[in-house]
Amino acid sequence: MTIRVVKYDEAIADIQAVRHAVFQIEQGVDPALEFDGEDEAATHLLAYVDQTAVGTTRMRYLGDRLAKVERVAVLPSHRGQRIGRLLMEEAIAHLRANQIVTVKINAQTHARQFYEKLGFLQVGDEFEEAGIPHIEMRLPLDG
Ligand code: COA
Repeated sequence: MTIRVVKYDEAIADIQAVRHAVFQIEQGVDPALEFDGEDEAATHLLAYVDQTAVGTTRMRYLGDRLAKVERVAVLPSHRGQRIGRLLMEEAIAHLRANQIVTVKINAQTHARQFYEKLGFLQVGDEFEEAGIPHIEMRLPLDG
C-alpha cells in the first residue's frame, strides 16, 4: 500500500471513484453536497494497493495556521487494515510541514473513536451535515 499526494486534475477519476463508492453508494450522500467546488483548490491524498485507489482524503487551508481534513474514505473491501489511519497520519504530517498548528475535522459521529485514536478531541455539540450526525473535532500540532 502506498499513499501519494496527488494533483486533483490528474487524479480526479481515482478520487471520485473512491468517494462515489463510499459517500454516494454506501452512505447515500447527495453528489451536489459531496462535489462542492472546493476540490480544485484542495490538496488530495490517495492510497493505492497495487494500481487500485482504495482510500482518499483532502486538506484545505482555512488560514495561516488552521486546516481542515475532509472526505476521509476507505473502500469497504479495504477497511480495518490501517489504511484510514495511515491516510490521516500522512495528512497530519503534510499539514505540520506547512506550519499548520490546528487540524479541524467535521467527523461523522460514528467515526469518533477513529479520530480520537489519532489525538483529535471533540469541540461543541453534535450537528447534522448532509443528513448525517457530525461532531467537530480538533487536533493541536505541538512543536
Ligand atoms: N468506529 C470505531 N473505531 C474505528 C472505526 C469506527 N467507525 N473505524 C476505524 N476504527 C478504529 C480501528 O478499529 C483502528 O483501531 P486500532 O488502531 O485500535 O486497531 C483505528 O480506528 C484505525 O482504523 P483503520 O483500519 O485505519 O480504519 P479504516 O481504514 O477502516 O478507515 C474510515 C476508517 C472511517 C475512514 C472508514 O471506515 C470509512 O471510509 N468509512 C466510511 C466513510 C466515513 O464515514 N468517513 C469518515 C467521514 S468523517
